[in-house]
Amino acid sequence: MPDLVTVFGGSGFIGTQIVRALARRGARIRVAVRQPHLAHAMRLMGDVGQVEVVQANIRDAGSVIRAVQGADAVINLVGLLYETGRQTFQAVHVDAARTIAQAAADAGARLVQMSALGADPASASRYARSKAEGEAVVRKILPSAVILRPSIVFGPGDDFFNKFGEMAVVSPFLPLIGGGRTRFQPVYVGDVARAAATVALDPQHAGRTFELGGPGIFTFREILDLIQKETGRRRLYAPLPFGAAGLIGTLCAPLALTPVAPPLTADQVELLKTDNVLSGEAPGLADLGIAPETVEAILPTYLYRFRKGGQFAGAAGNAVA
Ligand SMILES: NC(=O)c1ccc[n+]([C@@H]2O[C@H](COP(=O)([O-])OP(=O)(O)OC[C@H]3O[C@@H](n4cnc5c(N)ncnc54)[C@H](OP(=O)(O)O)[C@@H]3O)[C@@H](O)[C@H]2O)c1
Repeated sequence: MPDLVTVFGGSGFIGTQIVRALARRGARIRVAVRQPHLAHAMRLMGDVGQVEVVQANIRDAGSVIRAVQGADAVINLVGLLYETGRQTFQAVHVDAARTIAQAAADAGARLVQMSALGADPASASRYARSKAEGEAVVRKILPSAVILRPSIVFGPGDDFFNKFGEMAVVSPFLPLIGGGRTRFQPVYVGDVARAAATVALDPQHAGRTFELGGPGIFTFREILDLIQKETGRRRLYAPLPFGAAGLIGTLCAPLALTPVAPPLTADQVELLKTDNVLSGEAPGLADLGIAPETVEAILPTYLYRFRKGGQFAGAAGNAVA
C-alpha cells in the first residue's frame, strides 16, 4: 500500500504543487482544507481515488486528529502573512503547529513542518518570531520532524512577483522599500514541492532542518529590475525609507478586517530589514538531489501576462512542472 500523506494547507500556492509532486511519486494524499467544496479540483491532481479532500481547521484539534488518522506522513503548510480575527500568528504558527505535531506523534506519522528562512526568536518581526516558536514546539513534541525553511518562493500563482508585476502595470512608480538593498534567494515552487515530497516519503531525513534557496541572490531592487524586464515596463523607482513604509503598513492594517489583503504590513516591513538568504550552515536542495531552477528561466513563463497587450491574460495558478 503506498504511503498516505495528510497535507494541511494543500490548497495554497505551495501546497498545490506539493500535492502534485506527491501524486507523481505514487503516494496517497489527503488534502485537509477548511472549505472542501472549494478544493474539489484537487482530486484531479492524481489518479482516480489517489487524492481525497477532507475538512479540517488546524485551530480545531478534533478536525486535525481526524485528518491525521491512518496517515504515514503529515505536512503542515499553513501559514499567514498577516493576522485577521482568530487567525493570529500565535494561533496558527505556534498553537496549531503544536496540535498537528501532537496528532502526528500520536498517529506514529512522520511530520514535515513548513517554516521560513528568517525564522528567529529574536527577530523584530512577529511573523518570524512565531515561525521560530512553531519550529521549537514541533521539535519538542516530535524531534524526528523535518523542518523546511524556504526563502521567498516564486512560480505561477506566487504572491510577491505577481504583486509587483501587477503594480508595474497599474502604477507609474515602484516602491524601493528601505532603498531596495535587502537580499533574497528566491526558490522555485516546483523545487520546494519536490523537496517536501522527498522528505515526507523518505524517513532517512528525519530530524533535519533544510534551508531552501535558489541559485541566485538578488537585492529587492534587482528583483524589481527583473520584473520590469519581464513585464516590458519602465517604471520609476520611488525610494521608501523603512520608517515611511512601516507607517503605510500601519495605515493599511484595517484592510486585514476586509476581504482585501493589505498591500503591506508593518510586520512585513520589519522582515524586509533583514537579508533572506541561506546561512550556508544547513542542508539544502542539493542534499536532496535537486538542482534548483533559476528565476530568469521561470519568470517569463508567468509574468508574460503583465506585458502590454497581454495584461492579466492566462491563469496565475498554472501547473508548474
Ligand atoms: N510563499 C512564500 O514565498 C513562502 C516563503 C517562506 C515560507 N512560506 C511558508 O510556506 C507555507 C505555505 O505558504 P503559501 O505561500 O503556499 O501560503 P498560502 O497560499 O497562503 O496557503 C496557505 C494555506 O493555509 C490554509 N489555511 C489557512 N488557515 C487555515 C486554517 N486555520 N486551517 C486549515 N488551513 C488553513 C489556506 O487554506 P484556506 O485559506 O483556503 O482555507 C491555504 O491552503 C506557509 O507556512 C508560509 O509561511 C511561504
